[in-house]
Amino acid sequence: MVGPHDKRQHMQEIAMSGSSQNSKVTALSSASGSGPDWPERWKTLEHGIRVGRYVDEDFAQLEYDKLWSKVWQAAARVDEIPAVNDFTTYEIGDQSVFLVRSDADTIKAYHNVCPHRGTALTEGAGTFDHGNIICPFHGWRWDTEGANHYILAREEFKNGELCAADVALKELQCEVYAGFVFINFDSDPQPFDEFIAPVRELCDDLNIGEMRHYWWKSIPVDSNWKVAQEAFFEGYHVPATHPQLETAAADFIYGEKIEGEFEEYNHHNVAYDTFDNGHGRFYAGKASNYQGNVKRFAINKDPVDAMADRLQLLVDGMDAQVLQADVDLLRTLKGNIPEDSNLGAEYVRVLYADAAEKERPMPKLTPEILSMWGGMIFIFPNLLILPQAGNAMIYRVRPHPEDVNRSTFEIYSTRTLPAAAPRERAVVEVVDNPDDPDQVYLIPRQDLGNLKRIQKGLHSRSIRQVWLASYNEKIILGMHQEMDTYLQAE
Ligand code: FES
Ligand SMILES: [Fe+2]
Repeated sequence: MVGPHDKRQHMQEIAMSGSSQNSKVTALSSASGSGPDWPERWKTLEHGIRVGRYVDEDFAQLEYDKLWSKVWQAAARVDEIPAVNDFTTYEIGDQSVFLVRSDADTIKAYHNVCPHRGTALTEGAGTFDHGNIICPFHGWRWDTEGANHYILAREEFKNGELCAADVALKELQCEVYAGFVFINFDSDPQPFDEFIAPVRELCDDLNIGEMRHYWWKSIPVDSNWKVAQEAFFEGYHVPATHPQLETAAADFIYGEKIEGEFEEYNHHNVAYDTFDNGHGRFYAGKASNYQGNVKRFAINKDPVDAMADRLQLLVDGMDAQVLQADVDLLRTLKGNIPEDSNLGAEYVRVLYADAAEKERPMPKLTPEILSMWGGMIFIFPNLLILPQAGNAMIYRVRPHPEDVNRSTFEIYSTRTLPAAAPRERAVVEVVDNPDDPDQVYLIPRQDLGNLKRIQKGLHSRSIRQVWLASYNEKIILGMHQEMDTYLQAE
């Protein structure tokens, strides 16, 4: 069988071996979903995406059959199961898995099914008392290594000759990395190290593995899962969707101030990269505030006030990525910027001094990592990490098991903890109304508020494709191209 990555390598070989322009075009277009047998409605185009990928039930089924069944996916954060025998359940489509901490350093993943008559062994999260996993139907029992220890009237099964393998729990491949538990349903998947390699250094240097939950919400949304996550792949939407964060550009867009001096919106400074395996990132490029470039905050305002007021919008609008304690530290700098320094550098200095005092892990202090503050790392196919100074907001998006027009959007606000802080278990808060200001903060509410309208529009008979900006929206295209290597594999 040709796996998705074998296939892509094959495509690359074709592209590299071909000396004529034509053979390259053939290989590339085939790799991006334009092969002759691939339905027109599902094509990934050079400048856009056909809408069938977002609205067709058959396409969603193909994703379950060929993507979710083969790809590494984040099933949990480690702080969902901090103590030995803690478990949590992960669902994708009609498949259910449970994860259990079998000892202090080991997490195991099992298919959530009793080998007797198929009962799902767990729901939600909890702790297996004394490490006993007990089926609620007839009481068969296993340990956290998956070995069976009890069957009522065992002699009645298979003439009394059931062997251990007949009744052991079925284990899945499982890797703990960056504070996530990644699983794979494929028994012979792409090696995890190879899968994660393009983003490993970024995640390591940002200390994502040390992030612990501050809060975690699960939000039902009325759009395809890809529509939901693609809303967070670019800064291009910021002026129209979050006008409070980009007032000059928003005034221009909404006609409040069409005359005047609108030149560049801040998010023009965002840089985008796509990586192998479908991963990607955006980041501040040369424009990071934390490297001294804070001029744009300083119009008619004390620079500390200007920067702090802007960051306060993020605290009030998300309570993630930038936290109140960070802004409070920033405000202590008012009138205290030495001649030979600058605001960005001083802010970084006080953040790190405070963290050192509390013995709190922080990101590596390099220009590249500073440029990631306020940026995003995308781990294919559905995980987004938005880091800052020892904090990160994390999104995970999953399709609805039955409805291509719905999905589940999770937000984790995480931060590294002082050495002395207690390690508590992460518990999800399930939101019932994504429009409720008491349940969802302003900034994600503005983003999620677009999704229903996008999904509705994608059903219009008048639209065949969406258009993608070649630079600002390149992470979206990279994601779909990688999806095609899975979906089109034999
Ligand atoms: S179905 Fe689980 S013990 Fe019978
Ligand atoms: Fe947004």
